[in-house]
Amino acid sequence: MPSVLARIPLARLPTPYQRAPRLAREAGLSALWIKREDLSGPALGGNKIRQIEYILGAARAAGADTVLTTAASQSNFCRALAGCAAQAGFGCRLMLRAAGGTAPVGNLLLMRLFGAEISFTDATDPWHPDVRAELEAIAGELRAQGRRPFVVQLPGETAALAAAAWALAGEEFAADFSRAGEPPDFLAVACGSALTLAGLALGFARQAIPTRLLGVSVQQPAARLVPWVSDVCGRAATLLGWDVGDAMARVAITDDQIAPGYALPSQAGLAALKLAARTEGLVLDPSYTGKAMAGLLAAAQAGGSAAFLHSGGAPSLFAQGEAVAAAL
Ligand SMILES: Cc1ncc(COP(=O)(O)O)c(C=O)c1O
Repeated sequence: MPSVLARIPLARLPTPYQRAPRLAREAGLSALWIKREDLSGPALGGNKIRQIEYILGAARAAGADTVLTTAASQSNFCRALAGCAAQAGFGCRLMLRAAGGTAPVGNLLLMRLFGAEISFTDATDPWHPDVRAELEAIAGELRAQGRRPFVVQLPGETAALAAAAWALAGEEFAADFSRAGEPPDFLAVACGSALTLAGLALGFARQAIPTRLLGVSVQQPAARLVPWVSDVCGRAATLLGWDVGDAMARVAITDDQIAPGYALPSQAGLAALKLAARTEGLVLDPSYTGKAMAGLLAAAQAGGSAAFLHSGGAPSLFAQGEAVAAAL
């Protein structure tokens, strides 16, 4: 691995890979496994911890003392970054999109608990170029205070590093699949920035794992994500010094589960969340993993075997308690 990829070890790895026989039966699958990335460790875990190990590694290598990022006000990434920053001795400055609500519940409560310094923005599109300018202005304020900020922008320059972190998990999946006896026909994962999907595509290609990857978008149209994932795969491969051919060959992205919109619960997502809880004791959330499970259940109509990347996100369940309770 190139030395540019400095890592601060935080996650509890490997995360468990477990069978879900009752949910498999309900879904009409011959077998279903859950990759329990929700149990990845610090700050209540999730798919962001593997990425944060390398992000904080890069921040330390750059001599930074504070990480600065932006996302939704109920962002699992910001909650995990705030907690991991506290654990690793960094300050954490967050610019959050006010549209997601400013009440101190769920992830936002945890960000405050971890001591993050928080401001809100009216921006609604994390991919808009103005977002970068707002972040740079905050970085300038921090520098004026004598601090050394490290700007983290997942859809921006941090993308390749975050995808590379997941590409490096390919070896762990190969070991999981080998212990389970065979690779599943497909693996479903929630897609926001789609960096987890991009990394998995690269990691699976590197390990020659035949499993198809189903990205279930919760925010962006598939037409926007497909070229983005392909681009990020290429950049992450360059970062890692890998040449794996066409990583996109095994990737499909559906945007069928986004409605009624990002972070807004859907009937199918809530039904999937309830089913997973009652058949397997899994805690999914309405914004990401509930919708991803709904996508898996829809794809399962074709039969076969599947795996589900449980990417965490439980704190937002508590921020949307009323909608969840109404579906029970
Ligand atoms: C719980 C959860 N699952 C999945 C995702 C999607 O990960 P990615 O942004 O890499 O697509 C996120 C992103 O915020 C998340 O919080």
